[in-house]
Amino acid sequence: MIVILKNYIEDLLKKPNLFKAEETLSIDYIPEKLPHRDKELSLLSQLFISLITTPNSISRKILITGGTGIGKTATVKIFGKMLINVAKKREINIIYIHTNCRKERTSYKILIKIIRSVLSNFPKRGYSPQDLLDIILETLENNNLHILLVLDELNYLINNDKDIIYSLTRMYDDSFNRPQRISLIGIVRDISCLNNLDSSTLSTLQRNIIKFNKYTMEEIYDILDYRIQLSLKENVISEDLIQMLSEIVYKKGDIRFGLNILWKACKIAENKEMNYISSEILRLSNDTLVPYSFQDLLKYLSPNKILFLLAIVLALKNSETVSISFIKILEQYEIICENIKKQKKSYSQLWNYLNEFKKDGIVSVDIQSKNIRGRKSLIKILDIPLKDLERLIYKTLEEKGVKL
Ligand SMILES: Nc1ncnc2c1ncn2[C@@H]1O[C@H](COP(=O)(O)OP(=O)(O)O)[C@@H](O)[C@H]1O
Ligand SMILES: [Mg+2]
Repeated sequence: MIVILKNYIEDLLKKPNLFKAEETLSIDYIPEKLPHRDKELSLLSQLFISLITTPNSISRKILITGGTGIGKTATVKIFGKMLINVAKKREINIIYIHTNCRKERTSYKILIKIIRSVLSNFPKRGYSPQDLLDIILETLENNNLHILLVLDELNYLINNDKDIIYSLTRMYDDSFNRPQRISLIGIVRDISCLNNLDSSTLSTLQRNIIKFNKYTMEEIYDILDYRIQLSLKENVISEDLIQMLSEIVYKKGDIRFGLNILWKACKIAENKEMNYISSEILRLSNDTLVPYSFQDLLKYLSPNKILFLLAIVLALKNSETVSISFIKILEQYEIICENIKKQKKSYSQLWNYLNEFKKDGIVSVDIQSKNIRGRKSLIKILDIPLKDLERLIYKTLEEKGVKL
C-alpha cells in the first residue's frame, strides 16, 4: 500500500478566508471611528479644552460610568489620541497614560507606570509611593509636562488600594497659583463602588460625571456594520444576519460579545469550506460562546461551592436588598446545611469560595470601612436575575446528585 502524506499546510491554504483584516475584529483593536459616541467625545473635549487653551492652569478630574462593552475604554483612548494631536501641533506637552486597574492593582504599580512614561530606565525598587509621586511631580515641573492619567476599571483599585486615588485627587487642593500638571479620568462600571471612598474624594470625583448609555438596537447595527466593513471581505454576511446579530447583542448590551460571535462564525464557516456566514452558523457560533455564561460556570463548581452560592442567592432574595453582608449569608448557609444534614465548611473556606466567585465574576464584593475596628463586606449579584440563578442551581445540584 502506498501512503501519501497529506500536506496539512497546503490544505489549510486552500480553505476559504473570510477576513480582510482579522486583527480589526479583536476586542483590543481601537477603530478609527466610533459611531454613536460623538456626544461623549464632544463632552470630553469641552471638559479638557483648558489643557490646550490655558496649559497647566487646572487639574481636571472626570469620572465616566456605564455598563460593560459600551465603548468607554475605546472612547477615552480615541479622545486621548485627539488631545495629543492637538497639543503636539501647538507644542504643548501632554502625555496620555492609560492604566487598567485590574492589571495594575496597586498605587505602586500605577506610579511606576507613570514614572516610566516620563523617565526612561527608572529603577524599579527602592522607592516608596510618596518618593515616586515626588519624583513624578518634579519631573513634570522640570520638563513642563502635563499628564492625562486614565484609571480604567477604577473599582479594582478602590477595593484594593485607595492611596493613589486619595493623593491624586487632593494633590492640587491648596495650590491655586502653582501649575497643575496631572489630570484624571476614572472609569467605573457601577458608580456604587465609590461609596467606599471618603466624602472629600467622592465629592471631587462626582463633580464631573459622564454617563455612557447603553446602545440602542439601531446603534448596535451601525457599529457592527462598521466593524464588519473593516474586518471582513464583501458579502460575507447579509444585512438580515447583521440584524439578527444586533438583536442577540442588544440583549447583552455588550459589543464585545458581537465581535466574538462574528469572529467565531467566520472560523466555523471557513472550516465548513463556506465563504459566507449562514444563519445556522451564526446560531451555532452564539451557542458555542455560552461557556462564559453561568450555566457552564456552575457545571465546574463542586457541590459544596454551589450550596454556598445558593446561600448567597437565598439570603439576597429574602432580604430584597441589592447587596448583603457576609454574616447574613453565613446564617442562610447554616440553615441549608442543617436542612440537608451536611457538614458545614469553615469560615475561612467559605471566605475563599466567595473570593473565587468574585474572580469568576459571579458576585461583586464591596468592602466598606465603617470605622477603625471593623470592615464590612457587601456582596452583590449583578449579571443574572436571582430567580434564574436559583433555578439553575437546583438543576445543577440535582445533576450532581445532591438532594435538597
Ligand atoms: N461605537 C463603537 N464603534 C465601534 N466599535 C465600538 C463602539 N463601541 C464599542 N466598540 C467596540 O466594542 C468593544 C468594547 O468596547 P470597550 O470600549 O472596551 O467597552 P467598555 O470599556 O465600555 O467595557 C471594543 O472592541 C470596542 O472597540
Ligand atoms: Mg473598558
